[in-house]
Amino acid sequence: MTDFDDQRTLAEKLDAADPLAGFRGQFVIDDPSLIYMDGNSLGRLPTRTKNVLANVVDRQWGNRLIQSWQDAWFDAPQRVGAKIAALVGASPDEVIVSDSTSINLFKTAMAALAMKPERNKIVTDEFNFPSDIYILQGCCDLLKDGHQIELIRSKDSIEMDTESISLYLDDNTALLTLSQVVFKSGYLYDVRRITEMAHAKGALVLWDLSHSVGSVPIHLNDWGVDFAIGCTYKYLNGGPGAPAFLYVRRDLLDRVQSPIWGWFGDANPFSFSLDYTPSDQINRFLVGTPGVLSLLAMEPGVDLILEAGIDRLREKSVQQTSYLIDLFDTFLAPLGFTLGTPKQPEHRGSHVSIRHPEGYRIARVMIEEQKVIPDFREPDNIRLGIAPMYTRFIDLWVAVDRIRRVMQDRRFLQYSSERQMVT
Ligand SMILES: Cc1ncc(COP(=O)(O)O)c(C=O)c1O
Repeated sequence: MTDFDDQRTLAEKLDAADPLAGFRGQFVIDDPSLIYMDGNSLGRLPTRTKNVLANVVDRQWGNRLIQSWQDAWFDAPQRVGAKIAALVGASPDEVIVSDSTSINLFKTAMAALAMKPERNKIVTDEFNFPSDIYILQGCCDLLKDGHQIELIRSKDSIEMDTESISLYLDDNTALLTLSQVVFKSGYLYDVRRITEMAHAKGALVLWDLSHSVGSVPIHLNDWGVDFAIGCTYKYLNGGPGAPAFLYVRRDLLDRVQSPIWGWFGDANPFSFSLDYTPSDQINRFLVGTPGVLSLLAMEPGVDLILEAGIDRLREKSVQQTSYLIDLFDTFLAPLGFTLGTPKQPEHRGSHVSIRHPEGYRIARVMIEEQKVIPDFREPDNIRLGIAPMYTRFIDLWVAVDRIRRVMQDRRFLQYSSERQMVT
């Protein structure tokens, strides 16, 4: 048996011993030969979601009509928010579902900046999701108060030296905002340590949990985090464009305001008072009528993660990223790939980036001809996302096998480097 065959046997053994293996059956898998490695971008469809949606459409909307607002819809942002709170180490009344991640970043960043009127520096890093940086740039533009963004730079475009972050924090820093798991390299920040460092300088912290919620244990209360936001369509399997969530620490709530005053954030929306009175609950960060269908369609994905248990998911994810990196070292590195993800498991989330100067065209062949779906992030990162709810070890072996084939027959040379709209 060759080394590579040995690795296949190992994958089969690991799958047979996997205590979470049964959860794969909870997802729609129409084509078992398709290796889906993009659950870090859009999670798979839980089977239950189809039933929930059918019920919401047929019974709640179709039959109960507007009465469903009272029955089940009006309090859904808090009810589902309380479930997400359990995943991020917060109290049920500290998390609410609303809007998109980008809008929640705007609301919480503006709220935080208003709490520190005497300071005007925002610190973030070059690893942050560009939309987050655009939103922050927009906040500075809107405030017209000399606010400036300082970008923390990394030495190697993969990891960040935690202690060096203190060099960027000073008495003028109002807000430090970072993604707990960064979208390209998958680097995982030490939230507790960095939050402490920011607080020691009197700054507030806002964490983007989009790439960590549902894949990494999160303890917002224990870590003393002020604000957090995140999306639900990646590891939470909430569906395309599913609404996002936001967290505000309970003791800050009566001192912060949303910059967008909408009727759903009012203490009593149905009083139809002509003056806004913010709710004294986390609801003050709501704006307008939520998209009920996508909100309720997202709930089964959250339930499944809670049932599987985040510690078990993390354990499997670490095992799987380690297995994939071992395969990478032996079988892909010699083909001209470099690893774009930290080697130490405690420094990475649940995706592995592999880099190659022809990364874009290689990803295209994987998708078009090899039935392996990763995604591509400029300039050369092929992201292989592992969602331990449904990714098997054998999927990782098959993905590497198919990547080797792509490199052998050099089929990627037949493809254009011109980028598609969505990569
Ligand atoms: C880390 C991170 N932050 C923010 C966003 C933007 O989210 P949305 O488009 O839902 O506003 C994304 C989208 O993928 C993301 O990955």
